Amino acid sequence: MIELARRVRENAYAPYSGFRVGACLVMATGNVYTGCNVENVAFGPTCCAERNAVFQAVACGEREFIAIYIVAGQQKPVWPCGMCLQVLSEFSRNMRVITASLSGEVLENSIDNLLPYAFGDYRGIDR
Ligand code: THU
Repeated sequence: MIELARRVRENAYAPYSGFRVGACLVMATGNVYTGCNVENVAFGPTCCAERNAVFQAVACGEREFIAIYIVAGQQKPVWPCGMCLQVLSEFSRNMRVITASLSGEVLENSIDNLLPYAFGDYRGIDR
């Protein structure tokens, strides 16, 4: 999975930050979906590798997330940004997050640990 994330990272479109990221999402079906970051000259429309992998999986009818593998080019592995953690937490609170640096350091954690106070289900709350 780390190798798949490393390979899709090569396709990252990151001319503004120069920071390329690849992600590989593993589903309960055994299928995997990959994504890379895609930047934009207006900066705001940029989409992270993790969210691109999630959107790809959901577009293919997949909902059960098991793990996401991330590879970025830093010396140290990087964790997903808050926006990506929120998007991942929509589908699973206990999926594993595995992040690797190009130099081979690997760290692992869960969404619950990384975003313990994720925005949750607001329906049913009095307004
Ligand atoms: N980025 C990701 O793709 N994933 C992360 O977890 C953090 C940041 C991207 C967004 C942007 O293209 C570049 O890295 C620099 O922030």
